[in-house]
Amino acid sequence: THVVTEACIRCKYTDCVDVCPVDCFREGPNFLSIDPDECIDCAVCIPECPVNAIVPEEDVTGDQQHMIKLNADLSKKWPSITKRKAALPDADDWKDKTGKLGELIR
Ligand code: F3S
Repeated sequence: THVVTEACIRCKYTDCVDVCPVDCFREGPNFLSIDPDECIDCAVCIPECPVNAIVPEEDVTGDQQHMIKLNADLSKKWPSITKRKAALPDADDWKDKTGKLGELIR
């Protein structure tokens, strides 16, 4: 599977959604997750994300390992998103920030 990492939190640009051939993105208030049961590892979403939030599971760095299970857990409760929409209003203020896990709204 592919994994959405913390870089997405409070940004949610949603460019990734439009290219997904299997509609595997799930939407929360300020983050998108990838449903690992649906992702086919096509990787087309990777270059679409302006903040490089999406990585293949095997490339998830040590400081983002918790995001693997989090994508799976959140995908079970969040609805599907299949069309791009406006990014969060202050996305550009958050795009270069790290350590955003505490900002995640579940
Ligand atoms: Fe998030 Fe990047 Fe998609 S910020 S919503 S993973 S385009």
